[in-house]
Amino acid sequence: MNTNEVLNQKTKERYSLYAQFYPLLALIAYYVIWRGNIFKHIQFFKNLINEKSDVLDIATGDGSLTATALAPETNANVQSLVCLDISPEMLVKAKKKLKSSNCTFVLGDVGKMPFVDGQFSVISCFGGLNSFPDVPLALGEMNRVLSRHGKLRGSVLLLPQSPWRQRRIHQWIEDGYQTQTITTDKLSKWILDAGFEISAETQIGDVVLFELRKSKDYL
Ligand SMILES: C[S@@+](CC[C@H](N)C(=O)[O-])C[C@H]1O[C@@H](n2cnc3c(N)ncnc32)[C@H](O)[C@@H]1O
Repeated sequence: MNTNEVLNQKTKERYSLYAQFYPLLALIAYYVIWRGNIFKHIQFFKNLINEKSDVLDIATGDGSLTATALAPETNANVQSLVCLDISPEMLVKAKKKLKSSNCTFVLGDVGKMPFVDGQFSVISCFGGLNSFPDVPLALGEMNRVLSRHGKLRGSVLLLPQSPWRQRRIHQWIEDGYQTQTITTDKLSKWILDAGFEISAETQIGDVVLFELRKSKDYL
């Protein structure tokens, strides 16, 4: 197994257990460690879809956020919603929350997605980058499957300043819940290198919400 496969295997094992306690534990960590605002977070993703769209949601997890922000039952502009995640246990939970016939579920790795180039006009990825083994590879794949004038909205959890919060994050990385620490500089470089431009960005606590479009060289 190469390094990415080893990290993905560790993630699958960890999320198989974590799925039982999700989303409660995730929400507590979101408020206490990253000081985010879940209502603004959800609104940011709700505003993503304002015209008829074929949507890909990456790292759907247990589907709580996806169902609240993007579900076809509540947003008539969602023509189809494909939910991709590497954890079978998380996808089982997501299927119970996203029951529309317009939703399909794909068990797979963001680093090699089984979709054709330009297949989706809208991509969402809530909190996925913190758990991916190779973010440049993941963002490159997202750029590949995004249509020419499509848009991507994502959220990422930055490394907080306070030492006790940092210690928790280093522990979660060691345990396999996350794969790396993320700073704003690292994020900006990843985004530019993957052929994206930032079209909207906001930070609440240590949570960054961003919208990306293909940079002109990639159109
Ligand atoms: C922190 S959870 C986010 C879940 C959900 N989007 C949310 O905001 O609550 C991260 C998710 O990324 C998934 N994941 C981790 N590595 C992945 C990979 N290589 N490909 C696809 N999904 C992955 C995990 O299984 C997990 O469900």
